[in-house]
Amino acid sequence: MQKSILGRAGDYTIRYAEAGDVPAVINVNSATLPEHYSDYFYYEILNEFPNTFIVAEIGGQVVSYIMCRIEYGLSVMKRFGLARKGHIISVATLQEHRGKGVGTNLIQRAMEEMRKGGCKEVFLEVRVTNDEAVSLYRKLTFLVSGTMQGYYKDGESAYLMAQQL
Ligand SMILES: CC(C)(COP(=O)(O)OP(=O)(O)OC[C@H]1O[C@@H](n2cnc3c(N)ncnc32)[C@H](O)[C@@H]1OP(=O)(O)O)[C@@H](O)C(=O)NCCC(=O)NCCS
Repeated sequence: MQKSILGRAGDYTIRYAEAGDVPAVINVNSATLPEHYSDYFYYEILNEFPNTFIVAEIGGQVVSYIMCRIEYGLSVMKRFGLARKGHIISVATLQEHRGKGVGTNLIQRAMEEMRKGGCKEVFLEVRVTNDEAVSLYRKLTFLVSGTMQGYYKDGESAYLMAQQL
């Protein structure tokens, strides 16, 4: 069956994730981030929010993913009251495939899906020392809305970053 292709980023194919991609997504997560989730969590997010679970592949290998959740609650940017918000739970690219525009492409596509789904803003948490990611989000015009002290298990703090959609 033809997988649901969204487009390309250079040599990479960008498409919606499918259940069969979850093991590869878990591999990318394990290789790149200290925050891991149960297998069930990935399948559950994919099942509930398939439009914002997107992968990049090359030569049949998934090398990057973004996984998001649509939430309803108070505006992170304090620009609205209650609103639909897109939450980027996790985004990562394998080291050897970084700096080729794949992460940017996945974030932009997920934000477009959020906008189409009626979200007014997008937000995420990022380690305060994660310069690469913070710089990428700033480039995409995210702003720091606050700092969450000791947010991560190892005690590191997180920036809460957000952008209006
Ligand atoms: C953040 C991440 C997803 C970006 O993926 P990517 O596929 O390399 O993204 P892109 O190629 O689209 O963007 C690269 C951008 O990252 C930033 N960046 C890359 N390397 C950097 C560095 N050494 N220092 C500062 N910023 C850097 C730049 O803004 C760069 O944009 P530019 O090429 O226009 O200068 C990737 O670095 C990653 O997987 N990191 C580990 C996992 C992680 O931290 N995820 C985010 C958790 S919140």
